[in-house]
Amino acid sequence: MTDFAGRHVIVTGASSGIGLATAQMLAARGAKVSMIARRREALEVEATEIGTNAAAFAADVADRAALEQALADAAAHFGPAYGLFANAGLAGNFAPALGYSGTLFEQVLTVNLTSVFWAMQAVLPAMVDAKEGAILVTGSMASKRGMAMNPAYVASKHGVLGLSRAIAVEMAPHGVRCNCVIPGFIETPAFDLIPPEQAARINQRVPQRRMGSADELAEVACFLLSPAASHVTAQNWAVDGGVLETLEV
Ligand SMILES: NC(=O)c1ccc[n+]([C@@H]2O[C@H](COP(=O)([O-])OP(=O)(O)OC[C@H]3O[C@@H](n4cnc5c(N)ncnc54)[C@H](OP(=O)(O)O)[C@@H]3O)[C@@H](O)[C@H]2O)c1
Repeated sequence: MTDFAGRHVIVTGASSGIGLATAQMLAARGAKVSMIARRREALEVEATEIGTNAAAFAADVADRAALEQALADAAAHFGPAYGLFANAGLAGNFAPALGYSGTLFEQVLTVNLTSVFWAMQAVLPAMVDAKEGAILVTGSMASKRGMAMNPAYVASKHGVLGLSRAIAVEMAPHGVRCNCVIPGFIETPAFDLIPPEQAARINQRVPQRRMGSADELAEVACFLLSPAASHVTAQNWAVDGGVLETLEV
């Protein structure tokens, strides 16, 4: 049963890709959805397309005050949140660790990790009061594997998996669950710049020999956020066509 029965779910990074697909699916399954991202116009167009059970609250999650205002506006609009999908993220730059920009390192950590903690701190009190809640964060295969040339991304995605486990154990007695979804190679605008030869090489790394779609990821995200996953917490679930757990020789 993944019917959200009018429950309010907040999605960050909802203007495109995984966040948008999940916001659309949540709304189709009966949730009221608050959508957060920086591009106000894109966000408003998508929210209007979904209908009155979606609303746009533009904010840069790296700006704590702006994020908290957007979360407060969302709660004022649809009521206290039952769910949070903390999904906004950026890839950083591919550069050798020794030359990696300190400023960029901090920026990637702020968007991919610290902002998730800020959002959790903002929504958790109402979830604890309600004795019910579901938080999902977006990790990466870089949450579980080292990867050369992007130390900030790998550190941030390891961090967000750890954060989800820490919150899961602390919040379990309060009826609040927290999980981490791990996208493999999911075809989203983040992949638009990848040349076709590189896309073909990526597909060869996947046992299913293809990238996943944002909808395939959204299916798992909706389940983990839904009351149907009531005994599922502190988990990480890869949607990756089999990459992480296999070795082809
Ligand atoms: N696609 C994959 O294969 C893959 C693999 C591993 C992990 N992921 C993770 O999946 C998540 C979603 O990525 P995606 O593939 O769906 O990429 P995407 O289509 O580029 O979506 C990224 C989303 O994050 C938002 N965002 C980025 N920085 C933000 C900020 N500072 N404040 C608010 N919103 C911000 C973007 O909106 P605005 O530009 O409007 O702000 C956009 O809605 C990310 O956490 C990413 O690390 C994706």
